[in-house]
Amino acid sequence: MSKTVLLVVSLSLMSPASEALDNGLALKPTMGWLHWERFMCNTDCDTDPDNCISERLYMQMADVMVKEGWKEAGYEYVCIDDCWPSLQRDARGRLQADPKRFPGGIKKLADYVHSKGLKLGIYADVGEKTCAGYPGSLGYYETDAQTFADWDVDLLKFDGCNLKWTLLGEGYINMSKALNRTGKSILYSCEWPLYEWPFQKPNYTAIRETCNHWRNFDDVFDSWSSVKSILDWTASHQDTVVPSAGPGGWNDPDMLVIGNFGLSHDQQESQMALWAIMAAPLLMSNDLRDICPRSKQLLQNKRIIEISQDPLGRQGYRTAKGNSFEVWERPLSKNRLAVAVLNKQEIGGPRGFAISSVPGWKYCDPQCNVTLILPQYKEMGVQAKESKLILYVNPSGTALLTVTPISKHRPHWRKTSAKHDQIIL
Ligand code: GLA
Repeated sequence: MSKTVLLVVSLSLMSPASEALDNGLALKPTMGWLHWERFMCNTDCDTDPDNCISERLYMQMADVMVKEGWKEAGYEYVCIDDCWPSLQRDARGRLQADPKRFPGGIKKLADYVHSKGLKLGIYADVGEKTCAGYPGSLGYYETDAQTFADWDVDLLKFDGCNLKWTLLGEGYINMSKALNRTGKSILYSCEWPLYEWPFQKPNYTAIRETCNHWRNFDDVFDSWSSVKSILDWTASHQDTVVPSAGPGGWNDPDMLVIGNFGLSHDQQESQMALWAIMAAPLLMSNDLRDICPRSKQLLQNKRIIEISQDPLGRQGYRTAKGNSFEVWERPLSKNRLAVAVLNKQEIGGPRGFAISSVPGWKYCDPQCNVTLILPQYKEMGVQAKESKLILYVNPSGTALLTVTPISKHRPHWRKTSAKHDQIIL
């Protein structure tokens, strides 16, 4: 193997720098389904009744989520995105669902979703209009928060279109307070930093105090280039964003597009593995009524979900890169570590990676237990510091594993000093 320089980064690993929004929610990354990436703003129920934004779509998703093991796997929220309301507010200034597409109204839909043991999410916007041009909440924060509470909605995704950027903070904070004043626990999903980054570095202390999760970067598309761009953005901003994640508040790299059209199976495995490492909300945007068995199995993979939902609640990050590999690691509870090795080379076949070169291999001094989770589950048994184990990783695929130290002393991982190192493979 040629000599390759791996850049190794280690971050300050203290618990989150600030207090989370204290509404008792999102103690683990949110899991559920959100319509946007797959169904977008399809309002044409006459010609496309099965795929248009209507109460039927969410009822059917809720049905499938219960019947097909999604709920059991942990997916809980069924979330409406843009394009659900009427273009006009009602006589009392309240948002109303489009009467043709939601004849029962949102309260009935929430009751239905609750009857299945699931939760309902809704969407609104901090500005004058939503991104797709429906009524925004500016000037109506109290009214809209109360309306959502009256409807028994469990989550609000609050978008950031059509507002002067200098007013974003005030808007997001005011809506957070308005939700709180309803007395109902409503999970608050924000896009504040995404809309602020073009102008200034967002204040993640304030964001964590205000929101349960927050989008930082562009909308995910159904393509590998989109997933890669999200990973690249996250890695290049990890010093800023990773410390803000923890129980109650999470960075949101946007929806899982697994089960759609644009990702190969290896790329789907990469998205699932890296979203778990990033402690990201797992909000699928796909058609659960029609999904291939392999994608379903991947999305319901217990071992990956366990990493995502790990109670320590620390976000993982990129710890090494080089030779077209990236290593991402996430500290887990019980002193364990999750490691993802992503092969970014999109030519050729599977490439070998010496596992002992990952920064977290210090967990294996003198010995550790290794469990391979992707590309397939395999107990790799006891490994030692000088292990010669080579993992073969497909192009744009990821090997995911957990490492459990077998030793009395704790590894040095918990050191809080920031350190930049180089290791040679
Ligand atoms: C923005 C958001 C998306 C989606 C659309 C809806 O682009 O980032 O997630 O909600 O608006 O119009």
